[in-house]
Amino acid sequence: MPQYSPTFQVICSDVRKGLSRLNDSSVDTVVTSPPYYGQRDYESDIQIGHEKTIEDYVDTLVEIFGAVRRVLRPEGTLWLNLGDKYLNGQLQGLPWRVALALQADGWVLRSDIIWHKPNAMPSAVKNRPTTDHEYIFLLTRSTKDYYYDADAIREPHVTFTNQSRMKGGRKHLGKRGGTPEAGKNRGNPNLHDGRWDQAFHPKGRNKRTVWSMPLSKYRDAHFAVFPESLVEHCVKAGSPPKGVVLDPFCGSGTTGLVSLRIERDFIGIDCSQRYCDMASERLRNQQGQ
Ligand SMILES: C[S@@+](CC[C@H](N)C(=O)[O-])C[C@H]1O[C@@H](n2cnc3c(N)ncnc32)[C@H](O)[C@@H]1O
Repeated sequence: MPQYSPTFQVICSDVRKGLSRLNDSSVDTVVTSPPYYGQRDYESDIQIGHEKTIEDYVDTLVEIFGAVRRVLRPEGTLWLNLGDKYLNGQLQGLPWRVALALQADGWVLRSDIIWHKPNAMPSAVKNRPTTDHEYIFLLTRSTKDYYYDADAIREPHVTFTNQSRMKGGRKHLGKRGGTPEAGKNRGNPNLHDGRWDQAFHPKGRNKRTVWSMPLSKYRDAHFAVFPESLVEHCVKAGSPPKGVVLDPFCGSGTTGLVSLRIERDFIGIDCSQRYCDMASERLRNQQGQ
């Protein structure tokens, strides 16, 4: 069988202009990390993240993701990574403000994933815990009819391993769809199926909502880039093979790199010429492999 040769396109422009060049319902999944509020200077007059207030920031993102929804297929998925911010000594809850504003604008909020960063930046704070997580929200256009390949991202079982003290229940093996024959859970197929998935599914248990993945540093980028394994989980679960992946804030192109490697087409948008050049070079090198 001939292998699929995925293609890529990097559009160097403001995200709104870039999105206006894409056709309706042409993208399978979006994996992206927009600039966080007041965090970095990307040296561009049109950059996002320097709005006067956090309300303006939230409104800007809602408008942009409205344009993203137009290009997403009805069964498409959006994986949105956002970090929080302290202002005047107070945590702002920004990821959730954005998530709830997107929900109010018509998006379906399907999951909040905690990205735990085992190598998070050290911090000198002594009056609160050091933050070592960010959020990834899974948002869709539809509550049920969206693409989600659970099998593509299953994780190793814990039950019946050294990490677990659970001893009983082995008789569930090979009995999917049945019900517990005796005991207080007798006749509860839902519980039975859940136990079977948790302990015996041949591909591992259904992915949980805490993902522990170290931050990576791409030497040419002036910011911490997405870990490739994080992108890989989103792309594999959120898009079919040979599907189209979009990152409207593509930076150094990590989403594209992973998408090409696992045989999806990629479209990236970024307003910085420097990052567009960097992403294009990385993606050309990946294609040449
Ligand atoms: C957090 S970085 C993305 C990093 C990326 N996930 C990676 O792995 O390299 C955000 C990106 O958004 C871009 N950006 C900021 N404002 C923009 C705008 N108005 N239109 C398009 N891109 C923008 C910045 O240039 C920056 O590269």
